[in-house]
Amino acid sequence: MTPHGRLPRGKGKYSETAEKGFAELDAMVTDVEREVRAWRGWQLLENPSRHTDLRLVLREILHAVPMYQGQTTEAGFRMIGRLHKSEVRLMQVLSHHKAEEAEHGLWAWDDYLAMGGNPALQCAAPTPAAFAVAAVWDRMADRCDPFGYIGAEYLFENLTERLTKAIAASPGAGIAFANGTRFLSDHVTEDVRHANLFRHLIKQVLTERPDAIGPMTQCLSLFRQVYPIPLRDEALVRAIGAPAGDAA
Ligand SMILES: [Fe+2]
Ligand SMILES: [Fe+2]
Repeated sequence: MTPHGRLPRGKGKYSETAEKGFAELDAMVTDVEREVRAWRGWQLLENPSRHTDLRLVLREILHAVPMYQGQTTEAGFRMIGRLHKSEVRLMQVLSHHKAEEAEHGLWAWDDYLAMGGNPALQCAAPTPAAFAVAAVWDRMADRCDPFGYIGAEYLFENLTERLTKAIAASPGAGIAFANGTRFLSDHVTEDVRHANLFRHLIKQVLTERPDAIGPMTQCLSLFRQVYPIPLRDEALVRAIGAPAGDAA
């Protein structure tokens, strides 16, 4: 190991332990993807007769993004800042990625308005699910081992990569990727790149520091407790008034 576990520059060979650790994290995201595809709102993508409802639900999903995204961004930078001060290269890479994410809440708000959302709701209090997402990130940032950041962020990036691909292949793609909106459209390509970055970072960090799998799995588990189903289901209820627990 390099002094203080500092990441070497360049792309080295990953250890077997690192490959196993990555597979564990990836399987956790597969579980979350399975939950989303089983969620009662997912069927709206598959059924063209429900596409008016789909549009309303997507608009509400976008409405909620700015309610937590600013806080998760700030918490992310705080967590990156708590890495060992020898981790210069890792801090640079993670900060650069987090900065690329910084304006995505603004994209979501613009898309919400473009879809006919109410501008008067810009300062609305966060919903309980949006508050919970921000709260988990705040707590992780202050209390968890900062290597956990990479695990939680992999859920953000890889889940979006998987879901945007599935949405693009569904009958609802025309609604989801409407002209004039960019949050979903731009994430199709951007999160392939971001997820690839995190696959590499997870394996590289675990090759140098096998113990980092503990905080990575911990933070991914903490985050998946609040993301994304509670947010999506709140959006569905706001949009089409389906009573919680009933089939949409
Ligand atoms: Fe993003
Ligand atoms: Fe991303």
